Parts: sequence; C-alpha cells; structure tokens
Amino acid sequence: MSSVRFVLLSLCSALLLRAALGADPLFHFCATSGNFTAGSPYESNLNKLTGFLYATTPSSSGGFGYSSIGQYQDQVYGLALCRGDTSPSDCKACVADAGAEIRRRCPPNKGAIIWYDDCMFKYLNTNFFGQIDNANRFYMWNLNNMSDPEAFNSKVRGLLTGLVEEAYTASMLYATGEMGLEDKTKLYGLVQCTRDLTAAECKECLEGAMGELPSCCDGKGGGRVVGGSCNFRYEIYPFVNV
Ligand SMILES: *[C@@H]1O[C@H](CO)[C@@H](O)[C@H](O)[C@H]1NC(C)=O
Ligand SMILES: *[C@@H]1O[C@H](CO)[C@@H](O)[C@H](O)[C@H]1NC(C)=O
Repeated sequence: MSSVRFVLLSLCSALLLRAALGADPLFHFCATSGNFTAGSPYESNLNKLTGFLYATTPSSSGGFGYSSIGQYQDQVYGLALCRGDTSPSDCKACVADAGAEIRRRCPPNKGAIIWYDDCMFKYLNTNFFGQIDNANRFYMWNLNNMSDPEAFNSKVRGLLTGLVEEAYTASMLYATGEMGLEDKTKLYGLVQCTRDLTAAECKECLEGAMGELPSCCDGKGGGRVVGGSCNFRYEIYPFVNV
C-alpha cells in the first residue's frame, strides 16, 4: 500500500515539475457538463485516469491512449493523443503538462480539453469514444498572405486531400507530406485523428475540418484546424520531425 502511494506522489511531483518547465498550451475548453468537488470520488477517478494516460500513452500505446475509470455518476472517460511524429519522451512530457495544466484552467469541471503542439488531452463525464467531436474546435493561421491566394488555396486543398486519403487507411490515422510550389518553396502538411474513431469516421472528421479552410486560412501561408477528434496543419516551412 505504501509503495502504491509513493508511486502516485512521485507521479504528481513529476507532473508539477513538467508543467513548470513545459511548453505553452495552444488552447483549451472547459466543458459545461457539471462540476465536481475536491476530494470527491469523481476527482479521485480523474486523477487515476490522468496517471494511467500519462503512463500508457507515450510508449505502450504508440502515442494514443483512452480509458474510463469509475462507475455511474463517478465515471470519467479520457484520452490523450500525441502528434504522430512525437518521440515517446516528448509525448510523455506533453501528456504530463496537459494533465496538470488543464486542471489549473478548469478546476471544477467534469470535462475539459487542452491542446499543445505535441499532444491533446480530453476528459468528460460521458462516453465520447467513437463520436466525432464537432463542439471543440479552433483555428490558427499564419498572418502572412500569399501573393496568389487562389492558386495557393488550391495547392493546400490538394495536399491535404491526399493526406486525408492516406491517413484514414493508415493504422495510426496519421499522415504527413509535402508538395512543391512554383517558386521552389514547398508546402508541408500533417493530418491526424484520435484512434477511438473508425477509418470512416476519421475521414468524415478530416473532411469536416477541411471544410473550414475558407474561414480559417484563406490565402494564409500556414494554418491549422484543430478539433477534439482530428486536426490538420499546413505550413510553407518544414515542421514535422523526421
Ligand atoms: C460550475 O462552477 C462554475 C465556476 O465555479 C460555475 O460558474 C458554474 O455555474 C458551475 N456549474 C454547475 C453546473 O454547477
Ligand atoms: C493579410 O491580409 C489581411 C486581410 O486583407 C490584412 O488584414 C493583413 O494585414 C494582411 N497581413 C499581412 C502580414 O500583410
């Protein structure tokens, strides 16, 4: 019993230390599905789930973990996903940051989601596995405007369409690629889904995200549509680790 407690305490200090040193989150949402109180069984299940995802996501599950802990009104569902090119150690660091930081940002909420460059972390008091998350979504874009926006948009669409086709049939539900532009520069892209989705759901999710291209990234030299179940990113510089 005392050894179990020791492990949990070391995990907590590791989480706090990482959060003090780590990268900044891109964005977060606190869910409105209810609040829990400090010391409640829900909080205890959420802590266990966070520890479980921290321990399993990076290595044993290849950058994706999902699980549920507890019963009835105390049951919590959660997942963590690292970007497909993240090393196990960077993935672990990111999941640690995410699991600690989201609790600071949404302390009473029974559900929340947070995104970093390297990972996302989500939990909720209802079963959301296998459902495309259309509620939690944000955009990011590069401020630079391309000189020929229509031609550039069509290149972006072409690259991402190809990557969606590749990703949804891949076991990781992840694909990256590049495409040459006229002036010897290149366009780089990445698409990824959480792996609680089926292949067909992944395709549907990414096509939905691509439908946001005109509102998010029209003629912009870089952009991302980032959701709870899938995301894409493109840039005119290499950003994927190889
Ligand atoms: C949850 O807590 C927040 C902040 O304390 C409060 O504004 C909100 O009304 C609460 N929600 C519910 C469902 O109790
Ligand atoms: C890009 O275009 C938008 C809208 O026309 C404009 O507001 C913005 O300042 C431009 N950005 C740059 C970096 O020139």
